Amino acid sequence: MGLGTELVGGDRFEDRYGSHIPPIYLSVVYDYLDYEAGLAVFSDRGTYIRYSREENPTVRALEKILTKIEGGGDALAFNSGMSAELTLFLHLLKPGSKVVIPFEVYGSTLTLLEKLSAMINFKVVKVWPSAESIVEAVTEDTSLVFVETMTNPTLKIIDLAELSGLADEGVTLVVDNTFTTPILVKPIKYGASYVIHSITKYIAGHNDVVGGILVSRSTHIGDLWDWRRMSGTILQPLEAYLALRGLKTLEVRFERQSKTALELAEFLSEHPRVEEVHYPGLTTSPYHELANKLFERRLYGGVISFKIRGSYGDAVEFMRKLSIVRRAASLGGVESLAVLPAKAGSAFIPSDIRQKLGISENLVRLSVGLEDPEDLKEDLDRALK
Ligand SMILES: Cc1ncc(COP(=O)(O)O)c(C=O)c1O
Repeated sequence: MGLGTELVGGDRFEDRYGSHIPPIYLSVVYDYLDYEAGLAVFSDRGTYIRYSREENPTVRALEKILTKIEGGGDALAFNSGMSAELTLFLHLLKPGSKVVIPFEVYGSTLTLLEKLSAMINFKVVKVWPSAESIVEAVTEDTSLVFVETMTNPTLKIIDLAELSGLADEGVTLVVDNTFTTPILVKPIKYGASYVIHSITKYIAGHNDVVGGILVSRSTHIGDLWDWRRMSGTILQPLEAYLALRGLKTLEVRFERQSKTALELAEFLSEHPRVEEVHYPGLTTSPYHELANKLFERRLYGGVISFKIRGSYGDAVEFMRKLSIVRRAASLGGVESLAVLPAKAGSAFIPSDIRQKLGISENLVRLSVGLEDPEDLKEDLDRALK
């Protein structure tokens, strides 16, 4: 089946009424249908649901469809992208091990790893965001490589094909696919053991859900599930329902957002008040060829970043003048949002490295929503002028 069909019908929920929509199961407790089996710690999580901190039917429906569209073996949903990461790190990281991760990742991911490394005593090695630098940094004691398919905010692309041999070296590859979604890349194809998403972004897509998902290559995720039930990091049923509803339109939203983003990136590249535009859809982008090799469609995502001509003060003034695009920190939702990453999400990166990565104080990150492209262009043009 095609992705559209999967997204609309793949979570078909079977109950005695023939319900089309998965109900929001608010019940905390579930009867032990078979008392003996209910008491046992169950390996078949789908069959025996007994307590909502462990598993919930609405959450399970979301896990099943995301497992399918990422091509994994099973999945667990969490109450944020960060709690998905925390739970995974608690499961994977042991004293004496080494983690390789690019400098340019979501700030809280790196901060979390560094805080944990001080407690659990593992090493965090930060490298330039490229497959080449990652492979070079991997040594015998490396247990984990964490990458984002497309980096935030300068949209560098990591060639996952070059990382596909890591599993043979005993390294667990974890890919954050939030920016690219399974529409563009399915990291499990490239040897990833786990794919994570902040479903807060494109998957739910409406800026009304905070959540995360961890899709595992393997069907055996009992240990991880145990960490989730002990830490209580499961997604709540209403959020699971909203994410399931958002997911049905993922393909149409992502397509439209990507097309508008390309149009805006082209418009911005020609604008006299713009110094530089980062967007892999531009034929002039150093990542254009790699995107075409790696991405399953000729779409390049809904996030653009660009440097306006001028200082930080001018960038702040530009932000103040936006009226359709809103000033807020998230991405992937239906509303267009803009931030200045150097003083926000990327502020944790030491300034010399930030400069080398191209995250200057006049860099704007724009997450393109579903507004009319002409209105967005006009809004950007007015603010730039
Ligand atoms: C790429 C990426 N990964 C993970 C996260 C964390 O997700 P959440 O905010 O849902 O905890 C974010 C949040 O912005 C993100 O952008």
